[in-house]
Amino acid sequence: ANPSLLILAGDGIGPEVMAEVKKIISWYGDKRGLAFDVSEDLVGGAAYDVHGVPLADATMAKAQEVDAVLLGAVGGPKYDVLDFSVKPERGLLRLRKEMDLYANLRPAQCFDALADFSSLKKDVVAGLDIMIVRELTSGVYFGTPRGITTQPDGSRVGINTQVYTTEEIRRVARSAFELARRRNNKVCSMEKANVMESGILWREEVQWVHDNEYPDVELSHMYADNGAMQLVRRPKQFDVIVTDNLFGDVLSDCAAMLTGSLGMLPSASLGAPMANGRPKAMYEPVHGSAPDIAGQGKANPIACILSFAMALRYSFDQGDEATRLEKAIETVLADGVRTADLMGPEGGQPVSTTEMGDKILA
Ligand code: NAI
Ligand code: MG
Repeated sequence: ANPSLLILAGDGIGPEVMAEVKKIISWYGDKRGLAFDVSEDLVGGAAYDVHGVPLADATMAKAQEVDAVLLGAVGGPKYDVLDFSVKPERGLLRLRKEMDLYANLRPAQCFDALADFSSLKKDVVAGLDIMIVRELTSGVYFGTPRGITTQPDGSRVGINTQVYTTEEIRRVARSAFELARRRNNKVCSMEKANVMESGILWREEVQWVHDNEYPDVELSHMYADNGAMQLVRRPKQFDVIVTDNLFGDVLSDCAAMLTGSLGMLPSASLGAPMANGRPKAMYEPVHGSAPDIAGQGKANPIACILSFAMALRYSFDQGDEATRLEKAIETVLADGVRTADLMGPEGGQPVSTTEMGDKILA
């Protein structure tokens, strides 16, 4: 059977950028003998408009069955007034939670043609290719006790608790080591073991997984504050970085800006291996639904296309085809083809979403 893919294009520019990915998926079937069983469904505001919820149960069930989910973006001003329980983002959160996608992969990859776009010096970022693995389902965003309480003297206390279990740390560490074996065999784990108990456990458990299961991978540990500094100072020293939910949130946004535009950033969220050995997986661009440019043909489809390239590599064992796709993007950028978000101050004539997709295909 062909590998299966569920496409949830979502709202705003989601369907616009996804249309370009669909062209590429068809191309793989026609030209490379790599056919996918593609189904499509609604998520976010689009699902709310039809079903009154941002993710229908039937869609959730489908997501659990396929080899990978490819998501566009959700949300928009039209839905800002909705009750929290049916907001578009809840559709995304439900997918992540019920598929138990605990490892969030955020690559920071710098295409040479865009090195000038970085906030850093060109030689610091040219050729950069690192991957941050952020624990996504536990840690301080979820730990209890939590809440705001009022003291007898009237002052208030805000409480969040960082909780990590052995298994939560080990499983995300395994995701990072597996990735490292497909890349450059190097993992740096970041925490604050100097001041946090959960940090001590994190360091010990990552080391345990390394010593017992992945002794062939080079492992180092770094305090997360130093990690932030090193990411900006000399990012090319890293390959795979694994870290907790909170530090990962901050460090991945920081790393993202090493490479320039939001329109270029893909991501993957992986869970436990399924019966066929593939991890549960959802791939999506980092950007949102961009209501300010939606419906105008201005959106950059590259983040979504690169998300599909990650699916090729991490769900479908098609690393060479993923590289082919990334090379096509690099070539097009080197030729000076730019969507509006990639135009420098020197200006020029931007191409549309569709034209960018077509150039990459060509
Ligand atoms: P956003 O990522 O949608 O847009 C931020 C800025 O970047 C805008 O100026 C937009 O035009 C630009 N931009 C984003 N993607 C682009 C692309 N592919 N090509 C060219 N320019 C691009 O974030 P914002 O404005 O904070 O949120 C807009 C809506 O998206 C909100 O409803 C928000 O809740 C939702 N959102 C959804 C996410 C998701 O589906 N994963 C993530 C972030 C926000
Ligand atoms: Mg963030």
